[in-house]
Amino acid sequence: MRKFALIGGSGLDRLAELDVRRTSRPATAYGAPSAPIVEGLLDGQAVCFLPRHGSDHGLPPHRINYRANVRALRALGVTDVIAVAAVGGIATDAGPGTIVIPDQLVDYTWGREHTFYDGANGELDHVDFTAPYAADLRAALVAAARTLGIAIVPQGTYAATQGPRLETAAEIRRLARDGCTIVGMTGMPEAALAREAGMAYANCSLVVNRAAGLGVGPITAEEMRRNLERGMGDVLRIVGTTLRQVRAVHRGHRSRPSLQ
Ligand code: HPA
Repeated sequence: MRKFALIGGSGLDRLAELDVRRTSRPATAYGAPSAPIVEGLLDGQAVCFLPRHGSDHGLPPHRINYRANVRALRALGVTDVIAVAAVGGIATDAGPGTIVIPDQLVDYTWGREHTFYDGANGELDHVDFTAPYAADLRAALVAAARTLGIAIVPQGTYAATQGPRLETAAEIRRLARDGCTIVGMTGMPEAALAREAGMAYANCSLVVNRAAGLGVGPITAEEMRRNLERGMGDVLRIVGTTLRQVRAVHRGHRSRPSLQ
């Protein structure tokens, strides 16, 4: 049986739509997760919810205990993680309000505890990370958006930057040259830790601003908040429909969703 979790980012620190059944905060060898993990029903579908910045959005991207978050979800038996993130748009088709399901990432973060294989417990492994996001979970998100008639960008490259400051215009030009579509601050090491923990992981990003130097004038918190408020409803509908369709596939009612 697959068990799903939703990791919420900026604009998704609380999930009012969740019909709560249980709350827990499993202690892990790496400490406590960002917040209590809430298990409940989203749109009738069972899901665990964890806000990565904490319930009151007190944790900046570089201070999040990604290892504790991933381990705590694993301890609850989670097999599949859908990570929601607010991002800046770099590609021309990734304007504010666009939802992107990336298929690749580039990690520009530094100094974060980024692996379970740090030599501390004598274990060492080099996990394959060629395709950092789980193909079937990505396909399910794309299929759900199609079912709902929500236009999305079905692939792209997520640039993970250190933050908490936004980038310079030159940094964004560099990320564009590197082939990045969107830029956010929390995509790594979360994705790699999920891979090390053996969980399927996909990212659903909502563009809340044009990346530095690509829009008119400076990026404002007001602009980001407005686009978050506008777009998060669609993100949650995509997540709810994804859960329903994946479970239907498991019951044999539908053919497997594909990216085609
Ligand atoms: N850069 C990095 N992270 C972000 C941005 C951005 O422009 N917008 C929202 N999160």
